Amino acid sequence: MTAEAYKQKIDEALEAYFHAEGFPFAPLAESMRYSLLAGGKRIRPMLVLEFCRIAGGDAEAALPVACAVEMLHTYSLIHDDLPCMDNDDLRRGRPTNHKVYGECTATLAGDCLQAEAFGAILRSALPAERKAACAEILAGAAGIDGICGGQYMDMAWEGRELTHEQLNDINNRKTSALLIAACQMGVAAAGGSDAMLDCAARYAAAVGLAFQIRDDMLDVLSTEQELGKPIGSDAQEKKNTFMALYGEEKCAEMVTRLTEAAKEALNEGFSDTDFLCALADSMAVRRS
Ligand code: IPE
Ligand code: IPE
Ligand code: MG
Ligand code: MG
Ligand code: MG
Repeated sequence: MTAEAYKQKIDEALEAYFHAEGFPFAPLAESMRYSLLAGGKRIRPMLVLEFCRIAGGDAEAALPVACAVEMLHTYSLIHDDLPCMDNDDLRRGRPTNHKVYGECTATLAGDCLQAEAFGAILRSALPAERKAACAEILAGAAGIDGICGGQYMDMAWEGRELTHEQLNDINNRKTSALLIAACQMGVAAAGGSDAMLDCAARYAAAVGLAFQIRDDMLDVLSTEQELGKPIGSDAQEKKNTFMALYGEEKCAEMVTRLTEAAKEALNEGFSDTDFLCALADSMAVRRS
């Protein structure tokens, strides 16, 4: 399947969630849908579906798991943009959730998307042990060793001088963890082996770091129009970024090196890897 076809399938599946017209909490559901359906790149759900396929599974059956990872990701973006965090006004080319619905509803929309992500996995028609494996992987990526721990360090260490290891540690948690989880949930949904899980993690760890380096580059080099997010937000918030630590040239080199490493790691454990190799390449040169 092409990336465009995957994206369409994912967007259609996401569209079915959180219709609550007529209920007193309808505005909360509306705010969740506002961010969820705002048109992200859908990289994480694509990784779920493609890893499921190359691990020998039925990608269609993994669709709720793909939606779950996108719900969890969207929650992390809504909270990341809040005034108490990165304080950003633009996301996915639209005003951020709290700008439209207020901070209270935006906070609850994030909370709710996180809970519903686990619900989507656990309500799916996958075999019980595969659902449990997916939920455990996602929990690991969301908690202290994942997004929350990473976001905490990102905030707590603002304005401080960090070592390469500390910056890596932040990014492994706040960004790579969910990308690793997406790949591994695809394998788990297919009932794949431990060796496959391990290979998926090595691909995603390299892609994940490259992804955040590229994100830091785009915050300086892109345009608001193209990126759909504010430019210069990191400097304004005194963030520790790869761009600030290494500059453009070194960052570009790191992204190239990590992308090659990701593809190599993948080809050691899987065949039929053309889509995932092309995806890594496209992420390395993305403009949004
Ligand atoms: C942005 O993720 C947040 C980071 C982890 C850097 P994406 O660049 O995947 O955002 P969307 O989903 O396409 O909006
Ligand atoms: C955020 O990193 C990663 C998350 C867990 C959301 P950034 O703060 O750099 O993400 P953007 O640039 O706002 O998308
Ligand atoms: Mg942030
Ligand atoms: Mg941010
Ligand atoms: Mg950023």
